[in-house]
Parts: sequence; structure tokens; C-alpha cells
Amino acid sequence: ELGLINGRLVDMNENVVTMEDRGHQFGDGVYEVTKVYNGKCFALRPHLERLYQSLRAIRIPATYTFEELVQFHEALIKESGIKEGAIYLQITRGAAPRVHPFPEQVVPCLTMSIRPSGPVKQELRDNGVNIILIPDERWLRCDIKSLNLLSNVLGKQQAKEAGCYEAVMVRGDYVTEGTSSNFFVVKDGVIWTHPATNLILKGITRTIVLERLAKELDLTILEKAFDVSFVKGASEAFLTGTSTEIMPVVSIDGKMVNAGIVGPITRKLQDAYTQLIN
Ligand code: PDD
Repeated sequence: ELGLINGRLVDMNENVVTMEDRGHQFGDGVYEVTKVYNGKCFALRPHLERLYQSLRAIRIPATYTFEELVQFHEALIKESGIKEGAIYLQITRGAAPRVHPFPEQVVPCLTMSIRPSGPVKQELRDNGVNIILIPDERWLRCDIKSLNLLSNVLGKQQAKEAGCYEAVMVRGDYVTEGTSSNFFVVKDGVIWTHPATNLILKGITRTIVLERLAKELDLTILEKAFDVSFVKGASEAFLTGTSTEIMPVVSIDGKMVNAGIVGPITRKLQDAYTQLIN
């Protein structure tokens, strides 16, 4: 498998990252995941814009231009020959002897990799998935796509052990997002999702649903926080994400949504998204 470090193509199994990289020791860095469809990186521009926002938020200087990052994505696709896949990118603050404050003159480290990935499982797309609700135990800057994913990892494992596809998190009274996806519900024909505050990641797929698909399909969509009882009374629910795409949710904590049948609004959005990526 093909990787890239600071602009240089490498074998992914090569040892390229040093032990004292701050990503490794502190999770001091940010990342992005994009999908490759038909040999092209989908929605790369908004992903890179968000990457720069994440870097700014944690005060890592940008060392590559937008055009360079686009070139790196294209090089990975071309050199690997992968037509359907996913590209992972991370930038850490760099390597220096381990102390907490930002070391002086540390140089950020960019690593990327490409992997083939098939389409989302047809069975899940068609019939929907089960989810659980768990407490949101993350920090208060979930808008930063930080490498610190411990809560997300623990939450996803909990979902897996419960036989579920995703765990959706609840902070105080309000439902925020999935461990690696955004969460939407439909009630009385209106689509709801948590507003893009510091409490969620402003997903690129979420934005496509809000700003493009809902408009094209003339659907009413609200960015407004909602609680668990609202979710239990919803007629439809779905998840969005780069790898998740648009995934119907048919049961929450073992209780069926809409008698376990994928709802019409979810299906319309899902079909529109499939059109977009093909
Ligand atoms: N996850 N919320 C969280 C916490 C996420 O980690 C992600 C993405 C999303 C959806 O964002 P987008 O639509 O931009 O992919 C929401 C990536 C794919 C991951 O960690 O693998």
C-alpha cells in the first residue's frame, strides 16, 4: 500500500515516523479522510478548507499550499492505480524531545496513505443499521478534527460489542453526533440535526445534505439541538459521513424507528447522494 510523507511517496510499511513525533506522543495533530470515487477525490476542496481550519485552531503552521495538497492526493491515486478507495491525511506538530509546550522550530509532519475501499455494504444501505446512544465524554472542541479519538474509539467499540453500527453521543440533554458520523432525525416531515457548534464536527457530508441535497429535493431542514425523547419519537433517522455516506438508522437502543423500515426522506437523500458520487 502506498503512502506519502512530507511530499515523498513511500511504501506504507516503511518506517518513516520517528518515535518523538508529537502526533505519536500527544495526539498533537489533525487529520482528514476523503473518498476516491472513479479515480477522483470527492469534495476535496471543503476537506482541505476544514484541514486548514483545524490547523489554525491548534496553531500548527500550514507548510503546504492548497495546490500542493491537491497534487499529493492526485499522486497517491495515480501511483496506486486505486479507483475506489479512501485517502487518509494527518499533520502533526512535528518531532522534538517530549515536553508539553510547543517546541521551538519544530517542523510539522504530513503523512498520507491510500487504501482501496469498496462501496458501502448493499445490505446496510438498503435495510439500515442499528445504533446505541452513549454519553458524550469528549472535550469541548469537537469542531476540530483532532487526532485525539479515544472517546470515539471507545464509543465505536461499545457499539460493535452491542451488535450496532454506530454509537451516537448525548451531551447533557442534547444528542450531538456519532463517533465517526453526523446524526439526523426526521419528525413531522422536518429534518433535524445538531447545529455546527464546538460540540460537533461540521461534517462535509452533513454540509452537502444541508446546503445541496435538501435544497434540490425541497426538504425542510433545521440545525437545532434535540433531546433523546425527541429521537425516540422520530419517524426517521440517519447518519452521514465520508465513509458512512448516508446511512439509514432503523433501531436505536433496541427500539425500532418507523417499525424498522427505512423512511422516504432518508431514501431520497440517499439516492441523491449516490447520484452525486457516481
Ligand atoms: N469521520 N463526526 C465525527 C466525529 C467524525 O469523525 C466524522 C468523520 C464525521 C463526518 O464528517 P465528514 O462528513 O466530513 O466525513 C462527523 C471520519 C471519516 C473518520 O474519522 O474516519
